[in-house]
Amino acid sequence: MIPQGFIDDLLARVDIVDVIEKFVQLKRSGTNLSARCPFHEEKTPSFTVSQTKQFYHCFGCGAHGSAISFLMEYQGLGFIEAITELAGRVGLSVPEVRRDEAIIFEKSATTLLEINKKTANFYKHCLKNSPLAIDYLKRRGIDGRTAALFGIGFAPDDWQALEAVFSDYTDNKDLISAGLAIRKDEGKTYDRFRNRIMFPIKNSKGDVIAFGGRVIDSGEPKYLNSPETDLFRKGNEIYGIYESRAAIRSEGRAIVVEGYMDVVALAQAGVKNVVASLGTAITENQIKILLRHCKEIVFCFDGDIAGQKAAWRGLEGAISQLSDGTLISFLFLPQGEDPDSIIRKFGVERFRELERESIPLSDFLFDELVKKSGNIKSIEGKSKLVGLATPYLGKFKAPVMKSLFLDRLSQLSGISRSDLAPSGANKSSRRSDQPSPNRRTGPSVMRHLSEILFFDLSLAENIEADVISSNRGILAVLYPQEELQLLERMISFSVDGLSSTECLERLKEEPYGDLAKRLSRDGFTRYGSGKNIDREQLVTEVVEATKIIASVVSRQRQTELVMNKSPSNMTDEEKMRYRTLIGSATHLKNE
Ligand code: UTP
Ligand code: MN
Repeated sequence: MIPQGFIDDLLARVDIVDVIEKFVQLKRSGTNLSARCPFHEEKTPSFTVSQTKQFYHCFGCGAHGSAISFLMEYQGLGFIEAITELAGRVGLSVPEVRRDEAIIFEKSATTLLEINKKTANFYKHCLKNSPLAIDYLKRRGIDGRTAALFGIGFAPDDWQALEAVFSDYTDNKDLISAGLAIRKDEGKTYDRFRNRIMFPIKNSKGDVIAFGGRVIDSGEPKYLNSPETDLFRKGNEIYGIYESRAAIRSEGRAIVVEGYMDVVALAQAGVKNVVASLGTAITENQIKILLRHCKEIVFCFDGDIAGQKAAWRGLEGAISQLSDGTLISFLFLPQGEDPDSIIRKFGVERFRELERESIPLSDFLFDELVKKSGNIKSIEGKSKLVGLATPYLGKFKAPVMKSLFLDRLSQLSGISRSDLAPSGANKSSRRSDQPSPNRRTGPSVMRHLSEILFFDLSLAENIEADVISSNRGILAVLYPQEELQLLERMISFSVDGLSSTECLERLKEEPYGDLAKRLSRDGFTRYGSGKNIDREQLVTEVVEATKIIASVVSRQRQTELVMNKSPSNMTDEEKMRYRTLIGSATHLKNE
């Protein structure tokens, strides 16, 4: 761990403008600087850098942070790497990582990188000279350009092929540390990868850190991977991140599949924002890394039991990584298919369709919990549901998301929100900067919005008025009448140009005066003086809360639509929706 004091000191010495200017051309506008956002595609600049406050913020995509987070996001560096890089610029040395250790590690790491690079080039060269391997890739629909993009190669059918590149092959211990050669009990040294199509695994900077090798046609094991080395820790790396980074950024979304071939085949078909988790269930760390590049992740699983299990494990890791504004969803492919086979059999459009039908994390979570609870119309079922869901409640760190989870659980179980989350259960979720003793779990998204508006009513201009006014019917079903009406009143007061204080004065006389007083007080506790929250952040919160309301409405609409139809009249998409809603395909008669 690097001490916070050091980080503060470091941030005080570097100037964020210098850091960003190296990569992005900034223009001064007033006290701030602005540019077209480097994290998403746009025509007009909405990316601003504040020199006085030392942070950047994009009004378009919400990217936000300090010099450290800029380097992490822009260059794909890890936290420590970003700090080390900045420290180097201002001549500070990073404490904690001992220097001699760091040097030894670095030396071994650079040696291994060199070796991997040479080896990857050698394998690429061998692919060019192997009609057999080229033919295999062709049969799988991979052309030369895609192979070159991923640096795909071929390890010849030879026990010591690497001797051609490493003249000291037999004595080269580093080849063994790199996992490329094997030596058993002082016997002969031999290549780990033989007669395999080679997929180099790169870090986000593009360095080759490991390999996966596939047998040509059949044989065991189908894939052989590098062992873990100083450079390669499976759960921290993501296959394809280097090749797909730009597309993930510009689409704002990453698709995570299970196999190397799926990544490559999708890229070949034009779906370029794809990575793979390296043969294991996705880890929290991998999710964290992906969320540095985009706000949306679609996990794609085979539609078999193994896929379902992997999805459930992935979900558990994902919940704690969610922040408000991120969208994680799950895509289950039909039985026996993977993305590669879907494209080959049905074309890439079919994959795109399936992608559009992916199920949001919260829906998947509730669908599974409801399935496990039996008949949730019964008291027993409801109580089981609450029991199963409660542990997940504690895992949500994103306040709005958590609040929506509670809303939904409350709707399904018929138990009020306050009973579902009594104050004791909230301890873990309370942010340390919010010491208010009796706070309930976090407001519903409606109340959350009102709280912000009581702090500054002019922020209401960031709420798309339609979202509320044209969905009154549905919103009245989903949220307490009182909260909805209060929010509507506030929006109309803001249109009249009232201030927060004037608005509160008027509302005090109205039926929801008590609620207004409470929310106004909470709004001030949350955002008021001493909290140092800037307007930009509040704008983002308002926009995100509005988006969430819109998505809740749209889900509710779909549910109603589907529930009121007989399955025989449904489109395929509605059927799929219906199935996930009722948790089983057996109810569908006319399939
Ligand atoms: P799959 O068997 O689904 O791979 O395993 P795939 O990419 O679809 O392979 P093809 O289409 O048959 O060529 C998914 C992932 O699990 C890991 C690999 O990372 C693979 O891409 N795996 C699989 C292994 O590490 N070893 C194995 O023997 C099999
Ligand atoms: Mn496959």
